[in-house]
Amino acid sequence: MKGIILAGGSGTRLHPLTKVTSKQLLPIYDKPMIYYPLNTLLRAGIRDILIIVAPERSGDFLNLLGSGKEFGARFTYEIQDKPEGLAQALLIGEQFIAGDKCALILGDNIYTDDFTAAISNFEKGAKVFAKKVPDPERFGVIEMDENGKVISMEEKPEHPKSFYAQTGFYLYDEKACRLAKSLRPSERGELEIVDLNNIYLANGELQAEVLKGEWIDAGTFESLHQASVIVREHELGMKDGRSNLEVKIKRPLSSKKESLI
Ligand code: G1P
Repeated sequence: MKGIILAGGSGTRLHPLTKVTSKQLLPIYDKPMIYYPLNTLLRAGIRDILIIVAPERSGDFLNLLGSGKEFGARFTYEIQDKPEGLAQALLIGEQFIAGDKCALILGDNIYTDDFTAAISNFEKGAKVFAKKVPDPERFGVIEMDENGKVISMEEKPEHPKSFYAQTGFYLYDEKACRLAKSLRPSERGELEIVDLNNIYLANGELQAEVLKGEWIDAGTFESLHQASVIVREHELGMKDGRSNLEVKIKRPLSSKKESLI
């Protein structure tokens, strides 16, 4: 399975923090934000990872993450010229995906769950990961029956049918790129991931799993702050199931620095 981290966008909601840098490079406690979704993929055993970035910030991502060797992985980079929706990641990533299955994660989504089992059990269709939230109207909303079967999915509905948000981690089978090509931009001018997931739903191929751990979309001032608090609690072992957030670096960053001097 290939991995894609979508870290494009101009982060205007976080101005002035993002005036001279990317949202996904902002600190969450003691690491740049993108380390967390990267770690989610690495921890799940994904080693071939495409990082999609905004044109103005591409050099910064490359300087930070490099070839991937340091992480025991292989990184590829692509530019997203304009932030035209999450599903665009599958069009930009078509050559990289090269007919394989893929796991797409948003560069500002932080998880404490381990997805190793979900990925190794994934065979076909699409899979989304749901989390109960107090403000579902801010997200893609998943309506499920009592057995967890998906009934409907809507992007930022005015009257949400449930409290379950679809979070920013998605598993897709080999059909995803082809299906993404059939999408048309929504009213907000984006290729919506909900529209892609709805195609899978109509084909009876969409599964949802409710997350056990914590999840944060760190795209607002409040959630950015909250993310640092939660990560700090986990890293200091103040919560159960600690240390899932720690990026496994083969060679410590500090030794690299020393060798450069
Ligand atoms: C996007 C998706 C939405 C999903 C959310 C998760 O929202 O469109 O369905 O619930 O990510 O973070 P956006 O970040 O574009 O507001």
